[in-house]
Amino acid sequence: MERVMHVLMMTWWCLTSHSLASNPVTTSSWRQVTSEDLAVSGYEVWVRGRSKVECIRECNKYSHCTSFVFNVSSRTCYLQPVLDNTSNPAHLGQVYVNTEPECTIAKAPSSNGIIIWSHTLTSLKGTVTCYDDFINTTSDVIVQCNADGSWEREGRCSQRKWTEPPMTMFPMEVPVPVASGWSVCVNGTPTDDDRFTVELLSANDSQPLHADFRFKYNTSTELIFLGYKLDGEYTQGQGFPDFPFVVGQPFHLRVMVADNATFEVYVNDVIRATFPQHPELPPSDITAVNVRNNVTVTRLDLFCTV
Ligand SMILES: *[C@@H]1O[C@H](CO)[C@@H](O)[C@H](O)[C@H]1NC(C)=O
Ligand SMILES: *[C@@H]1O[C@H](CO)[C@@H](O)[C@H](O)[C@H]1NC(C)=O
Ligand SMILES: *[C@@H]1O[C@H](CO)[C@@H](O)[C@H](O)[C@H]1NC(C)=O
Ligand SMILES: *[C@@H]1O[C@H](CO)[C@@H](O)[C@H](O)[C@H]1NC(C)=O
Ligand SMILES: *[C@@H]1O[C@H](CO)[C@@H](O)[C@H](O)[C@H]1NC(C)=O
Ligand SMILES: *[C@@H]1O[C@H](CO)[C@@H](O)[C@H](O)[C@H]1NC(C)=O
Ligand SMILES: *[C@@H]1O[C@H](CO)[C@@H](O)[C@H](O)[C@H]1NC(C)=O
Repeated sequence: MERVMHVLMMTWWCLTSHSLASNPVTTSSWRQVTSEDLAVSGYEVWVRGRSKVECIRECNKYSHCTSFVFNVSSRTCYLQPVLDNTSNPAHLGQVYVNTEPECTIAKAPSSNGIIIWSHTLTSLKGTVTCYDDFINTTSDVIVQCNADGSWEREGRCSQRKWTEPPMTMFPMEVPVPVASGWSVCVNGTPTDDDRFTVELLSANDSQPLHADFRFKYNTSTELIFLGYKLDGEYTQGQGFPDFPFVVGQPFHLRVMVADNATFEVYVNDVIRATFPQHPELPPSDITAVNVRNNVTVTRLDLFCTV
């Protein structure tokens, strides 16, 4: 009752201060707060109950009620989503807690992020902030527990950065569609004076960008070769002679989707090549990054900035 009184007091205060600010006052959009409102907004609820069993029945009406206080003298049940003995004097009554709740924070699936929980009588919901090496696949990453104890999620935190060599997990899925400004970074070391290859893959065996770093390969010597693959066929490409690679020496490669419909290839922070995007292979189609041939990869960041 105290909480309800408090809300009513607040409502009254709002009405009066509103009337001071402007005339006339419209009251039609105001209504009295009910216990249902309080439950939905996450507050605890007081209900009538003559016995502990009635309190349990009342508690069971709320999917996420797992604790209550039974005040024997006033015959009221004070329902709460979880036992909270810190703030409310009602805890001085007989306190009961469900020892086998379907939904508890401890049962949440791992989420690769920091979770802020909101636990009400009708929901248990967590908002996830992804750890640094992970990326959100939706604007809000949410985990929530259904009344039956099953977990539901919206989006996820997907790993975007790896720093533990050796890396043999290619091709690596890009979890979020890429747009202008997107870069992928690869740290590695060439292992042979043949070639190594970095590919941006899309569906239908296509590659919006095929980058071949050739020490000696076919007719090329010390050349960055950029091309496409369209429906399984490599298309004509272009060679760039600025070739900074040395077998056995680490490099830092960054391939960026530039906003003027080009790819930009940086090696050791210097731009080495600019290559137009193929009109039939937009960067938004990129699904994965592949690195192969004579190279050891020591670090991969699917969403890097430098
Ligand atoms: C509240 O409950 C916790 C865990 O059951 C207990 O450790 C703590 O001492 C309690 N606090 C008070 C004020 O009773
Ligand atoms: C039970 O409720 C009455 C009336 O609200 C209150 O005065 C009393 O302190 C409560 N008893 C306990 C044990 O909380
Ligand atoms: C990830 O979160 C950021 C910040 O909230 C947001 O700008 C971005 O659009 C989100 N990513 C996706 C794929 O929704
Ligand atoms: C892949 O090919 C199929 C059939 O030709 C086509 O319907 C689909 O749009 C293509 N997907 C992409 C991403 O180009
Ligand atoms: C080798 O180079 C020639 C001439 O540039 C080209 O026609 C041929 O397709 C290349 N072969 C391979 C396997 O890349
Ligand atoms: C695209 O813009 C970059 C600078 O952002 C520039 O270096 C590059 O030459 C431009 N490419 C084309 C084809 O205009
Ligand atoms: C380099 O690649 C070629 C062709 O895939 C392979 O035959 C060779 O063994 C590789 N060299 C090293 C050192 O892995």
